Amino acid sequence: MSTDRRKFLKHLGTSVLLTSASLTSLAAQEEHEIRTLRAEKRAGPNDKIRIATIGMGIMGFNDTRAALSVPGVELVAVCDLYKGRLARAKEVYGANLFTTMDYRDILDRKDVDAVIIATSDNWHSQISIDAMRKGKAVYSEKPMVHQISQGLAEIQVQKDTKMVFQVGSQRISSIAYKKAKEMYDAGAIGKINSIEASFNRQDALGAWQYTIPTDGNIQNVDWSRFQANAKVRYDYDQNRFFRWRNYREYGTGVAGDLFVHLLTGIHYITGSKGPERIYAIGDLAYWKDGRNVPDVMSAVVHYGETKEHPAFQVTLRVNFISGEGDKTVTKIVGSEGVMDLGGEGDSFSIRNSKMAEAPGIGGWDSLFTYTEAEQKKLMDDYNKRYNESQRMRPKFEPITYRAPQGYNASNEHFANFMDAIRNGTPVVEDAVFGFRAAAPALLCNDSYFSNKVINWDPVNMKII
Ligand SMILES: NC(=O)c1ccc[n+]([C@@H]2O[C@H](COP(=O)([O-])OP(=O)(O)OC[C@H]3O[C@@H](n4cnc5c(N)ncnc54)[C@H](O)[C@@H]3O)[C@@H](O)[C@H]2O)c1
Repeated sequence: MSTDRRKFLKHLGTSVLLTSASLTSLAAQEEHEIRTLRAEKRAGPNDKIRIATIGMGIMGFNDTRAALSVPGVELVAVCDLYKGRLARAKEVYGANLFTTMDYRDILDRKDVDAVIIATSDNWHSQISIDAMRKGKAVYSEKPMVHQISQGLAEIQVQKDTKMVFQVGSQRISSIAYKKAKEMYDAGAIGKINSIEASFNRQDALGAWQYTIPTDGNIQNVDWSRFQANAKVRYDYDQNRFFRWRNYREYGTGVAGDLFVHLLTGIHYITGSKGPERIYAIGDLAYWKDGRNVPDVMSAVVHYGETKEHPAFQVTLRVNFISGEGDKTVTKIVGSEGVMDLGGEGDSFSIRNSKMAEAPGIGGWDSLFTYTEAEQKKLMDDYNKRYNESQRMRPKFEPITYRAPQGYNASNEHFANFMDAIRNGTPVVEDAVFGFRAAAPALLCNDSYFSNKVINWDPVNMKII
């Protein structure tokens, strides 16, 4: 390592690299540094982007914070259906913040350039479409849609209005994912054949039993607006409002909520448009709190051969009562190695393994079942054919790459969104990409509830 590079690392005070192959991961760190500097430079008084957040719950607050980390971004309004969250938004962002329970008030405002849609899943598509039609750039939380039938219409509105539209599965903006894709494309694990991806959790919050406020009653919640687009209406139930993920009417189960993150990462790295065959099974194993979605779910998904990739199989699993504790993995298996992408997409490792050139003989083999004379003949022939090095498996050191400490993929995802608004650069997760990740995730639910294999056309984005 040159002295300058060493100084650069010391200056940043972060450790990116855990092994000796330092220069490649250093490049990733440099790239992060450059991005930050670019964002700083562009901030200016004439270059403000005014945002509003619709759905000011857990992710609404998180997304707003990430959006405001991009220089030149200002929050002017928020919308939510529970009064307590509007009051909280004023506590955090100031008493002058405009608040409303009707998202159309936000879309009517001339001073809003972009909206973050962080509502329950049942409202993503409708509000996105309305917002684009009103000339707003849209950052829509995942999954892009609640129903497969909403996808093509939403893509069409984006094409017609040409509004900037980004879906919020932020891991693919991480420098770790960028580097992983670069390594994958360079053939670091050979030819891909399978992927195992899962979320394991083992606590009530992880299983979506979020805290309900003491004043979370019908007087403080706009319950009729919350369920306005549901086929079946229910009497007010705090669980249905504050723990909406547990109900298919408003959420999309573990598949729409979590498989979608896994598929987003997989599609980004492999360049795939999506699978062609999907089958899922599920159980309600532990969290029997009235929810109507499984808490353990597994899917087998087949990706056919395309010009982008060979055929490969994906197994997806979410387990909310896993004795393994909390663990999230995506393991991409190729003919010459494995890429493990951990947690929130801020690190990954590559382990290589290659076959020896010689096929091997003896040990767990049929050789010993033959006569002494036959064994000798076979061994002599083998030794003549293969030298020492042909009989050895090549050795490799595993390599781990990590984003710098404090690195935040959500901030990066919002920087990408704001770049698109300011400069017309492409977003990393547009409507077509977002739907191609959401649809197979939602089809896992369809497969589970109908107990059928679902065939999907990933190019035209249609059920076959
Ligand atoms: N990208 C990620 O990593 C990530 C992580 C968590 C959640 N999410 C997504 O973010 C979204 C929100 O999840 P959450 O955990 O913040 O839920 P939450 O329940 O904490 O917040 C959702 C809020 O949306 C509001 N809302 C619902 N319908 C509305 C409407 N029509 N108009 C205005 N407000 C409305 C509710 O009042 C509620 O306060 C979900 O779609 C979820 O999938 C993404």
